[in-house]
Amino acid sequence: MLLKGKKIILGVTGSIAAYKAAIFVRLLVKECAEVKVIMTKAATDFIPPLTLSTLSKNPVLIDFQKDKTGEWNNHVDLGLWADVIIMAPASANTIGKMANGLCDNLLLATYLSARCPVFFAPAMDLDMYQHPSVLANIQKLIGFGNHLIEAEHGELASGLIGQGRMAEPENLVAYLSGFFLKKSTLKGKKVMITAGPTYEAIDPVRFIGNHSTGKMGFALAEEAANEGAEVTLISGPTHLTIEHANIKLIRVKSGNQMYEACSTANQTSDINIMAAAVADYTPKTVADQKIKKKGNEMTVELVKTTDIAKSLGAIKKKNQLNIGFALETEAEIEHAQQKIKSKNFDLIVLNSLNDKGAGFGHDTNKITIIDNQNNIQHFELKSKREVAKDIINAIVQKLEA
Ligand code: CTP
Repeated sequence: MLLKGKKIILGVTGSIAAYKAAIFVRLLVKECAEVKVIMTKAATDFIPPLTLSTLSKNPVLIDFQKDKTGEWNNHVDLGLWADVIIMAPASANTIGKMANGLCDNLLLATYLSARCPVFFAPAMDLDMYQHPSVLANIQKLIGFGNHLIEAEHGELASGLIGQGRMAEPENLVAYLSGFFLKKSTLKGKKVMITAGPTYEAIDPVRFIGNHSTGKMGFALAEEAANEGAEVTLISGPTHLTIEHANIKLIRVKSGNQMYEACSTANQTSDINIMAAAVADYTPKTVADQKIKKKGNEMTVELVKTTDIAKSLGAIKKKNQLNIGFALETEAEIEHAQQKIKSKNFDLIVLNSLNDKGAGFGHDTNKITIIDNQNNIQHFELKSKREVAKDIINAIVQKLEA
């Protein structure tokens, strides 16, 4: 009974999934949690407050002012009372307001006043969940340190099939229980992560790059930071942004700049995760002026860049862990194992280009983790955020081994 005696504020917002709030409250009370429900007005169209007040054994709060006594509901006290706040279902509207500091109802005022961990379980239709503005708002909330409980796949109220269903009440309970069980597994650890591509300049307007988007490295940074690590994220050019109290983002362009930044971070880091797709070669000279076209052929002479992973592997300290990535198209395991040796990795994360939905640009990834003792773990195709969790778990296991 991990939730016994825990004080939980459940925020219910306007989504058809609000009907699941009744089962969720029932399960929380069965776990001996103390539950106070705050609803938005829109939520009351989907489920009567009386249902939730009966099940939670507490009055349901909706307005700033209590109806009967005329006394003001104190959102600051509510925020301080709670051990956790969970928004379930969290509608696109409420997510948008939370992400942008809006405060036009009691639930949002309580959210803004709270100092406790906040969870949100989105529920919305397929296309809404994919809209860039919703995705950006969700990302912003994660950046504030709020915990996303991802919507599940399945049939939606509209009849469409896809991601958007609020996580089932049983899963919400499991998620909260897991949170109370867990200690911050990387607390006190300094983690350096490389991400994205590198751009190797040919002249002032051209470069040699690659298709890496940085998604995997950014997801890892977020996950490590949520586990309490102090993260230095060194990223090549990408559109991604991240704001997290535990993450320091250093943006670089070329492989050599990335190497410089990594060498500095490596002096104090406990764990180095090298997820960047660093160019192996760079133009020997960079033209000062834009190169004019001449003739039918042109040659750019390339020289090797410094292999960051290999350099850091060569000076790896006792108790330092280095994790690498490998993207292979053939003899994958064998090639990955060779890289463990040549780059002195403790773990390597293998992506195979033969797997559909894995690798550059996808939101999903299918990985195999191999360690320096040749233990091999295969994983299913998952979202990059879930993959990041698996990788961080494997790192924590390795630390404890
Ligand atoms: N890496 C790095 N610096 C480089 C090149 C690669 O830190 N200049 C890191 C990558 O971030 C990754 C690992 O090394 O963690 C594997 O990179 P990859 O390019 O796949 O390996 P290579 O040794 O370059 O082998 P090959 O190109 O022959 O596959």
